[in-house]
Amino acid sequence: MDKKIVFSGIQPSGSPTLGNYVGALRNWNLLQDEKRYCYYCIVNLHAMTVRQDPGELYKRSVETAALLLACGIDPELSTLFIQSQVKEHAELSWVLSCFTYMGELNRMTQFKDKSAKHSDNINAGLYTYPVLMASDILLYGTNLVPVGSDQKQHVELARDIAIRFNKLYGETFAVPEPYIPKVGGRVMSLQEPDKKMSKSDNNPNSYIAVMDEPDVIIKKFKRAVTDSENVIAYSPEKPGVSNLLSIYCTFTGKTMEEAVAGFEGKGYGHLKKAAAEAVIAELSPIQSEYKRILGDMAYLDDIIEKGARKARERALVTLNDVYKKTGLRS
Ligand code: AMP
Ligand code: TRP
Repeated sequence: MDKKIVFSGIQPSGSPTLGNYVGALRNWNLLQDEKRYCYYCIVNLHAMTVRQDPGELYKRSVETAALLLACGIDPELSTLFIQSQVKEHAELSWVLSCFTYMGELNRMTQFKDKSAKHSDNINAGLYTYPVLMASDILLYGTNLVPVGSDQKQHVELARDIAIRFNKLYGETFAVPEPYIPKVGGRVMSLQEPDKKMSKSDNNPNSYIAVMDEPDVIIKKFKRAVTDSENVIAYSPEKPGVSNLLSIYCTFTGKTMEEAVAGFEGKGYGHLKKAAAEAVIAELSPIQSEYKRILGDMAYLDDIIEKGARKARERALVTLNDVYKKTGLRS
């Protein structure tokens, strides 16, 4: 059995969507069950790159922790923690920013997208965001990073930084690899299927929130944009239908061929209903568990505190090594 170290993060901004669930959370759970050592982090420092309501941010971080637990993250098997409670992330980020080129950061597509979206607040944090993400990953000796495909470029930058640092100072960081689901690495918007599903979308019909009630999920799937052909097939020319098919496959475990064969001769209404039902079946128990966990704040606080302690212990080992190798300490 290979004992790979897994690290991933999620921002505590907005309510997590089906995209977050399929691209990330679901795999977090699967990797944990394969007995790998996992660190799962609520990246509130990353969330600060866009304006947050101070009264809401901590509350959302705790709620995100509750959601991860509800999705099956087991605090005995995985370390679940809040990024700002482990100050080594910010410290390593400074050091690594001195080993990252502006040319590399200029190429990051998320920076380009986010600065177009928040043109009134293109702050330096938005620009150096991938360096902080590299620090998150590299502090823990991470081998695998389960993310949606939108984060692949960031993980590749973390690899480049690790390799560069190791060359200069000797073996220090494990070189991480992205771990992206084959189907569902990019769940698309239900309203504009050429855009990724995002929790910051202004139109709530474009995304399914993990916490949406069953009747809301059914309604949103019914309204999903398709095309006028009424033929259920997977093809780049049919982004809406292909997205629904991918969601259906993810939640039923069927292959694309099986799914397409099963829908032969049927209409889009049928596919929408089947996809909605499969999603509801998986999300319903998570929703009840989430509510139960949020009702026990003492339990949640305890997990968050223990998580930070465990993460800090490991992070400090790496940071000390980096400080020694670079001459920042004796
Ligand atoms: P974020 O909400 O940006 O913190 O993203 C948390 C995780 O969800 C990351 O691994 C993203 O790659 C993943 N993710 C976000 N949106 C999608 C999407 N539409 N499809 C697949 N994965 C996604
Ligand atoms: N940038 C990621 C996102 O928006 C979140 C994130 C921060 C992350 N640090 C990470 C993901 C480290 C994986 C590993 O989705």
